[in-house]
Amino acid sequence: MSLLKSAEDIAGMREAGRLAAEVLEFIAPHVRSGISTEELDRLCHHYMVDVQNVIPAPLNYRGFPKSICTSVNHVVCHGIPSPKKSLKNGDIINIDITVIHRGYHGDTSQMFLIGDCSVLARKICKVSQECLYRGIAQVRPGAHLGDIGHAIQTYAEAQNFSVVRDYCGHGIGKVFHEDPQVLHYGKPGTGMRLEAGMIFTIEPMINAGTYHTRVLPDQWTVVTRDHQLSAQWEHTILVTENGYEVLTPRADEHLDLIKAYIPTS
Ligand code: MF3
Ligand code: CO
Ligand code: CO
Repeated sequence: MSLLKSAEDIAGMREAGRLAAEVLEFIAPHVRSGISTEELDRLCHHYMVDVQNVIPAPLNYRGFPKSICTSVNHVVCHGIPSPKKSLKNGDIINIDITVIHRGYHGDTSQMFLIGDCSVLARKICKVSQECLYRGIAQVRPGAHLGDIGHAIQTYAEAQNFSVVRDYCGHGIGKVFHEDPQVLHYGKPGTGMRLEAGMIFTIEPMINAGTYHTRVLPDQWTVVTRDHQLSAQWEHTILVTENGYEVLTPRADEHLDLIKAYIPTS
């Protein structure tokens, strides 16, 4: 099975990616102290279904009960929006959006800081975004998947954080999660060679303590085993002839920052 997308697929994925990013732009002003994660879900669901005419991919995906994932503080990923979980001053939250548009998936997530956050909370949000950017900077034809993982792991560990091993990035297209698996740790020059036309996500989950995780009895919510903070950012990436294209760019984002990390030669 070829992992290379057709020109038609790429055009569809670019639209889906932009729509997913627009959901994050839409929800951003609502992500404030006092709002419940269920309310964030309701607002995003309405925007996706009634304004964008897209399908929220998480809803009923392998039994997931909501339209977005909301992962607060020590929740690593796959947090289920709940009326019982309201945001409070000092929280950090990842909101993960996946839309299906004309059969194509766009998948992206970002962190939000609620009010006055601790130095550690601010650092882990910043470092995890930089991990994503350092991973993206490795993407070009001829590079290996291990180059991406190595760039992320090296930086995270130099900042005294750890890289979650139990979950990874993934190929994406007409299928939500397809090959290849994109590990956020690894060795340079190992793993699959990248070719122009591949599309996959990079979505490093970075922990303040150890990388070990546990799944709660709801069978979805992934938490850090030591209950320390975790943070994650995600983009859907196309491998181009020259390097990469971020298919899920937000208006508030300075993607030029990625260029600083592109290896020369
Ligand atoms: N959006 C997540 C990812 O980045 C997957 C969420 S699956 C769900 O791959 F069922 F929890 F929504
Ligand atoms: Co993903
Ligand atoms: Co996602």
